[in-house]
Amino acid sequence: MDHFNYRNGLLHAEDVPVEQLAAEFGTPLYVYSAATIKRHYWQFADGLAGLDAMVFYAMKANSNQAVLKLLVGLGAGFDAVSAGEFLRARAAGAPGQHIVFSGVGKTRQEMRVAIEGNVRHFNVESEPELAALDEVARSMGTIAPVALRINPDVDAGTHEKISTGKSENKFGVPISRAREVYRLAANLEGIEVVGLDMHIGSQLTSLLPYERAYGKIPALVEMLRSEGHSIRRIDLGGGLGAVYDRSAPTPPTPAEYCQLARRLLGGLGCEIEIEPGRYIVANAGLLVSSVIYVKEGEDRKFLVVDAAMNDLLRPAMYDAFHEIVPVRHPAPGAMPVPYDVVGPICESSDTFARRRPLPALEQDDLVAFRSAGAYSAVMASEYNTRPIAPEILVSGGRYAIVRERCTLDKVIERDKIPSWL
Ligand code: LLP
Repeated sequence: MDHFNYRNGLLHAEDVPVEQLAAEFGTPLYVYSAATIKRHYWQFADGLAGLDAMVFYAMKANSNQAVLKLLVGLGAGFDAVSAGEFLRARAAGAPGQHIVFSGVGKTRQEMRVAIEGNVRHFNVESEPELAALDEVARSMGTIAPVALRINPDVDAGTHEKISTGKSENKFGVPISRAREVYRLAANLEGIEVVGLDMHIGSQLTSLLPYERAYGKIPALVEMLRSEGHSIRRIDLGGGLGAVYDRSAPTPPTPAEYCQLARRLLGGLGCEIEIEPGRYIVANAGLLVSSVIYVKEGEDRKFLVVDAAMNDLLRPAMYDAFHEIVPVRHPAPGAMPVPYDVVGPICESSDTFARRRPLPALEQDDLVAFRSAGAYSAVMASEYNTRPIAPEILVSGGRYAIVRERCTLDKVIERDKIPSWL
């Protein structure tokens, strides 16, 4: 699953002791394993072998340029959802033809950036977006390649905040209106229809919703082709769940997911595109944190750590579970103690875990939040004027800082006080 293991009682990121990184760079600190990212990428790429297919890593999960550069080297493409992400992927060396542009609210300015950067195609989600893209492309004297995102009205069976494939969600064109919207697209001079797109949600732990949603595609493709549209690419979105709780049932593997795509869609004569994000990076990351205080509450012990909800928002936002492990392996037979693990931020939602059994810990001990490679550093904020944590990439025995900790001076000087105050 990952390359974070204990050696001689010390947690290592590949061949590097996590303690050493914490001593050198301070905490809180994100640590990524290159070998884990590669392994997960290859699980998808191998699963699609023999098909006309490509992996477009959903970079919203972790858009550090070192991570992107690593994936560029493996042959990955990217799913970008803003001009910022598009330009970031380009800066990391991705050619525009290896970037798809998704998202429900692309602005005209963002469309221009992607067209100038030779984007592979836009995943378009509505008629007004089609009209805007048509206008932008024509004003630039070009034609924009488009896949329409179809909302299949299938329940992904995941957390409501990350479910996207039901008709009540804001995403995509309702499947019942696909014919009509494709007809509209075909009549726009600035638009070239190249395919179809679908993404039903994130952290899926069963293949059944995929089976239901992707199962609707063959008939749809047939209908669209009979209407004269050229459907040569099918973008299947992402969403395959990662393991967060190693004691819970294991979600399906990339091999099983790819097998499903192959079985349902391999015979359509289309290029297959997939957009996994979380699975590739979630378990390739740790958030390392120090214990500031062990506080005795009325009926519980609080472990106050120096990471907070501004560093890792997922528990506060989605009640997400992240395994927390000590950086020094506990002595054999040590009795676990139930702790409420909390950050220093001034609100109760800054709680990572309640009554979590952990070995007895003391001030300055180090802990690591596992599965913190996806939707973690990218969702960080400076809430409570806490500088965003730095990121380290490890590969074997090598490591490098891939995002520096911002200094408090820089954070503070970004505010400008008007002369009239
Ligand atoms: N493609 C599209 C169009 C998406 O909206 C997403 C994720 C993906 C691909 C990648 O899905 P993944 O393979 O990573 O599940 N912040 C939330 C997750 C939000 C996911 C948004 N869309 C979390 O921390 O759980």
